[in-house]
Amino acid sequence: MIPNEIIDQILDKIDIVEIISGYIPLKKAGQNFKTNCPFHKEKTPSFVVSSSKQIFHCFGCGMGGNVISFLMKYERMDFIEAIKMLADKTGIALPRSSVGGKKKNSFAEKLYDINNLACNFYQRDLTGEYARAPYRYLVQRGLNERTIKHFRLGFAEDSWHGLLGHCKAKGVEPDILGKAGLILQNTDTGNWYDRFRNRIIFPIFDLQNRVLGFGGRALDEKTMPKYINSPETYIYTKGRHLYGLNFSKEFIKKQNYAIIVEGYFDLILPFQNDIKNIVATLGTALTVEQIGILKRLTKNVVIIYDPDKAGEAATLRGLDLLIKEDMNVRIAILPKGTDPDSFVRKEKRPGFMKILKESKDLFDYKLNVLTSKFKKGEPRGKAKIVEEMLPTLAKIKNAVLKSSYLKKMSEALSVDEESIRTELRKVRPDTAQTYPVRVDTGNSSSENLAELTLLAIVLEDTSFIKRIEKELDFGKFKDKSIGGILEKIGHFYKSGKKVSPSHLISYFEDNKIEEIVSKAVNIGQTIQDRNKGFGDCIRHIRKRNLKEAIRATSDINEINELLKSSISKN
Ligand code: CTP
Ligand code: MN
Repeated sequence: MIPNEIIDQILDKIDIVEIISGYIPLKKAGQNFKTNCPFHKEKTPSFVVSSSKQIFHCFGCGMGGNVISFLMKYERMDFIEAIKMLADKTGIALPRSSVGGKKKNSFAEKLYDINNLACNFYQRDLTGEYARAPYRYLVQRGLNERTIKHFRLGFAEDSWHGLLGHCKAKGVEPDILGKAGLILQNTDTGNWYDRFRNRIIFPIFDLQNRVLGFGGRALDEKTMPKYINSPETYIYTKGRHLYGLNFSKEFIKKQNYAIIVEGYFDLILPFQNDIKNIVATLGTALTVEQIGILKRLTKNVVIIYDPDKAGEAATLRGLDLLIKEDMNVRIAILPKGTDPDSFVRKEKRPGFMKILKESKDLFDYKLNVLTSKFKKGEPRGKAKIVEEMLPTLAKIKNAVLKSSYLKKMSEALSVDEESIRTELRKVRPDTAQTYPVRVDTGNSSSENLAELTLLAIVLEDTSFIKRIEKELDFGKFKDKSIGGILEKIGHFYKSGKKVSPSHLISYFEDNKIEEIVSKAVNIGQTIQDRNKGFGDCIRHIRKRNLKEAIRATSDINEINELLKSSISKN
C-alpha cells in the first residue's frame, strides 16, 4: 500500500513534460506542448501536454490523465509499476510493504488487483515465444492484433502452477488467488493449482474496465468443456454484468440500440468489423439486472442468437423479460449453421447489417417459432401455441400494440379474437418488481458542457468551489462524475489541501475521471472571463434543474413554489 502523501510527493516532484518527451517528441505551443497522439492515428497533433497543470489530454480520442496514467497507458504498466518508476526517478523511497499492491482499502479492490495481475500475466503469455499456437488460433479465427490487445485476450499455459508460481514470486498469498477463483485446492493434499490451463483467456470487465473474472476456451474442439469460467466471487456475480459493455456503451448510446449476442467471439468479431453497439450474455439467459443496465443506455435491442434449439430457448426466455421491462425487441435470424462470429467473418459488416435490417419483431418471431414447433392446423396445437403466446401478450403494456398483436395471432391461427381475449383475461398480471424507468433528458452533451465548464473554472481558480457549493447541489449534477469530483475538491479546499488536476486524478484512479479532468483543464485554458462563464453555467444548470423539477410534478402549488424560489435566487 502506497500512502497518498507519497504519491502526492512524487507528483509534486516529477515533470510530466519531461517524462512524456522521453517517449515522444513534444513541440511548444503557447503555454502547452503538442504532438501527434500516441493512442490513436492522426495527422494533425491534438495531443496536448500542460506543464502548469501536469496533465495530458487528446482532443481526438479523449484520452487524458496525469503522468501516472500516461505511463500506465503508454507503457502498459500497472499502477504500482508506474509509481515505482517515478519514485526511482525522483529519489523518493517507497515503503517496503507497498510491493505487491496499490491502495488496498477493501477486499474488492484486492480482488480487482489480483485479477488485473492475472490478466497481465495471461496477456504476456499469449505473445510469448512458446505461445505461438494459441496466438495463431486467434488469428485463424479472424482476430487482429489490435483486437487481441483491446480485449486484453491472453493465454493460460499448459501448467498446474503457471499463474500460481508467478503470483507467489510477487508475494501474493494463495488464499486471495483462491478467493478470486483463479486457483483451486486439491481436497486430499491441500495443494493449490491453476484453474485455467492451456486455454485462451477472455477477461470479463465491469464498466470501469476492472477485471471481474475470466473465461477460458480450449484450443481445440475435442477438449471438454469448451469453456471454463471463473466461479462467482465477491466481485463477480453471473448475470449481473454484460460482457463487452465497457467497450460498447458509448456506441449503444450513440446508435440508440444494442445488439445482444451469446458468446465471446460473437461479440469480438462483429466489434472488430465496426459493429460496436454490442453486448454478450455469455451463454446464459438474459436477466432482469442485465436488462436494467441496458435500459439506462437504450430501450431498443436486437437479439442475435444461434439459430439452433438452445439459442431459441434462451431467446424465448429472454424475450418475455424484455417486454415486461418495456424494451423494444427485435430478433435477427442468422442462416442455419452459423453464429454471429462465423457469419461476420464471412459476410463482413454489410452482411451483418443486412441481417439486422431483416430482423423480426419479437412477437412475429415467437409466433413463428411456436408454429413450427406445434401443429397449428390441429386444435391441440392451436391451444398450445395460444397458451405459450399469452404470457408474452399479457406483458405488453401498450394497448394499441397489444390489440394489433391479438389480431395478428387470431389470423395466423384462425382462432377468433374473442376467445383469445377470454384466455388472456385468465393470465394473472405479473406482480414481480420492475425497474424504475429512467427519465429521458434528451441531449445530454450540451448540458454536461455547463457542468464541465464549472469544473474547468474551479480547476483554474479553486476559490470558485465555495460559490458553486452555495448555488448548486452536487447530487443534482447530470454527470455524476463531475459532481463527485467537485464534491471532493470542496473537501480538499476546506481542509486547506492544494487541489491540482494531476493530484485529483491519482486520487480517483478512474479512467473516466482522468478524461473528464484533462478535458476540463483544456477548456479552462480557453475561458477568458471566468466570472461571466461561471454565471452563465450556473444559470444554465439552474434553469435545467427547474425545468426537470416542474416536469416531474403535476401539482400546481408545488410548481408555484418551485418558480418562486427560483426567482428569489436569480
Ligand atoms: N459457454 C460456457 N461454457 C460452455 C459453453 C459455452 O460458458 N461450456 C458460454 C461462453 O461464454 C460462450 C457462450 O456460452 O462464449 C456461447 O457458447 P457457444 O455458442 O457454444 O460458444 P461460442 O461462443 O460460439 O464459442 P466458439 O465460437 O469458440 O465455439
Ligand atoms: Mn462461435
